[in-house]
Amino acid sequence: MKGIILAGGAGSRLYPLTLVASKQLQPVYDKPMVYYPLTTLIEGGIRELCLISTPQDLPRFRQLLGDGSRFGLTIDYREQEKPAGIAQAFLIAESFIGKANVTLILGDNIFYGGDTFQNAFAEFKSGATIFGYHVNDPERYGVVEFDAHGKAVSIEEKPKSPKSNFAVPGLYIFDNQVIGITKNLKPSARGELEITAVNVEYLRRGELRVQRLNRGFAWLDAGTSSSLHDASAYVQTIEKRAGIKIGCPEETSFRQKFVSLAQLEKIVEAMPHCEYRSYLENEVVAEAKRQ
Ligand code: TTP
Repeated sequence: MKGIILAGGAGSRLYPLTLVASKQLQPVYDKPMVYYPLTTLIEGGIRELCLISTPQDLPRFRQLLGDGSRFGLTIDYREQEKPAGIAQAFLIAESFIGKANVTLILGDNIFYGGDTFQNAFAEFKSGATIFGYHVNDPERYGVVEFDAHGKAVSIEEKPKSPKSNFAVPGLYIFDNQVIGITKNLKPSARGELEITAVNVEYLRRGELRVQRLNRGFAWLDAGTSSSLHDASAYVQTIEKRAGIKIGCPEETSFRQKFVSLAQLEKIVEAMPHCEYRSYLENEVVAEAKRQ
């Protein structure tokens, strides 16, 4: 399985914050937003990544994440000239995807809790797997309707009258057919290659699975000033209470054995003295040495 982080877009709802740094580089409490989706992919065991962003912002992502080796990953970088739709990612990354299956995660989606994604990656064979999450404002998202047996029967993009409260979060798992499907899409009325149109085509083929995320799972979308603030507050609350970090790619790549203890120690030594470093030293490195 290969992974794409889509981190372009206009970020217009966060203006003026996004005048000089893209949405996915903004802080969510104690780290840049992109660390959270990056960590979700690492937790899922994905090591080959491609990050797509705008021509202006791509150099900053490179500066932040480098070639990925400090997380035991490879990271390719690709430009999206204009925000022409989420599904365009599969065309931009076609040569990166090759013949593999691929997971796309949006750079402003924060997930926390449970192992639903890890299981979905491990069980994935073919077709498409997407998720459904109960929200109170489904009209802002792709909305999935289920029949009495829990089977998805329709998906609509930003419907005026949603048929359910289940929104589709920004993590999608596809087999290699996704490239051909996207090539056949026509831009929507708003001029975008819509991810919902890809999902609808898998549904038409009878190859779409929609797994409901349970109530204990958190899906935060940090696209507006208010939701960005809520996401920061949520992360701070959990981190303070539990003494753990959410969205810490150094820790997760170590726990996944993508980097060794010796490598992690070197990475930590290169960090300036700060709370983030202390956490890795005390809660991760020291703990691993005690075992
Ligand atoms: P949105 O939040 O729908 O759009 P945006 O980020 O451009 O923000 P705004 O509406 O405030 O202008 O996008 C969802 C995510 O997908 C976000 O992380 C940006 C990303 N995206 C791209 O990278 N390229 C695209 O063409 C689109 C449509 C979205």
